Amino acid sequence: MKELLKKLTETFSPSGYESAVRDVIRAEVKGLADDIRVDALGNLIVRKGPTKPGKNTKRIMIAAHMDEIGLIATHVDENGFVRFTTIGGVYPNMLLGGRVRFANGTPGVMHTEPLDKPTDTPAIEKMFIDVGATSNKNHPIKIGDVAAFERPFMDWGERMVAKSMDDRIGCLVAIEALRALKDTPHEVYFVFTTQEEVGTRGAETSAYGIDPDLGFSIDVTAWGDTPNRKGFEMYLGKGPAIKIKDGGMLSDPRIVDWMVRTAEKNKLPYQREVLLGGTTDARSMQLVRAGVPVGCVSIPCRYVHSPSEMVDSKDVNNAIKLIVALLSNPVQL
Ligand code: CO
Ligand code: ZN
Repeated sequence: MKELLKKLTETFSPSGYESAVRDVIRAEVKGLADDIRVDALGNLIVRKGPTKPGKNTKRIMIAAHMDEIGLIATHVDENGFVRFTTIGGVYPNMLLGGRVRFANGTPGVMHTEPLDKPTDTPAIEKMFIDVGATSNKNHPIKIGDVAAFERPFMDWGERMVAKSMDDRIGCLVAIEALRALKDTPHEVYFVFTTQEEVGTRGAETSAYGIDPDLGFSIDVTAWGDTPNRKGFEMYLGKGPAIKIKDGGMLSDPRIVDWMVRTAEKNKLPYQREVLLGGTTDARSMQLVRAGVPVGCVSIPCRYVHSPSEMVDSKDVNNAIKLIVALLSNPVQL
């Protein structure tokens, strides 16, 4: 499982350019699904379950996003430095000295001119990517080329660290839940979505196409367990979180109850999540067509949207068990 997580997190796939990670996931789920297809926005839709609905059959959509935050070139100056803007929530204080890689394989270092006050964080417009070029002649990068953070996956035993843990850890949980799901009364659609980091766009179109009875997303949530963090209760290692509210969505209370009941019945640890900012694919799923009851299973994650996002293996394993339990039995909302 960690081998697969290493492959998932180290694969280059910023929003809108998810084909590489989609290939990794497709190869992994091939033998596990009843049907696999890719829709117009690039979402990978993986179905499992009966084709003829029984009396307990619900159409359930589970979304985990494949894309990661990234950068996009806006200008290459005469000395070969690449100016850039962001794809998704990339913050300037995460960048200086960090490394990126472009889609064509070109590596680069993000930096800025020496600062008057070295303790300041410059705006992104003041930064550049140095790819080792000395002019803009025969430069490997064109306007519009995209880049992603370049960092290796690290396995520290219980804790694991990587770039794009948001949301490749959700993709891993979905893949492993599909693998472990032996029998389900439901028509289950695991959707590996595109363009979440730029506004949950892939989830919007895939949910419209699937027209689910209910659903949930699997995504990371923030952490509350560093020394001075107050006002947000969330611990790495104390269980996956059942989302009640985030910055863009109120989970359907019936979905929250279903998740809490299932966790307790199966003696799985869980945390209750009220996240102040941010949202997930579930927001789009909830608002599609005439509306869908949704929630979210969250993986507590430190340093979200940095090049070093950290999760706890116990939370990952318990999230997989919770999702398998949710999908194995009839749902009574
Ligand atoms: Co994110
Ligand atoms: Zn995410």
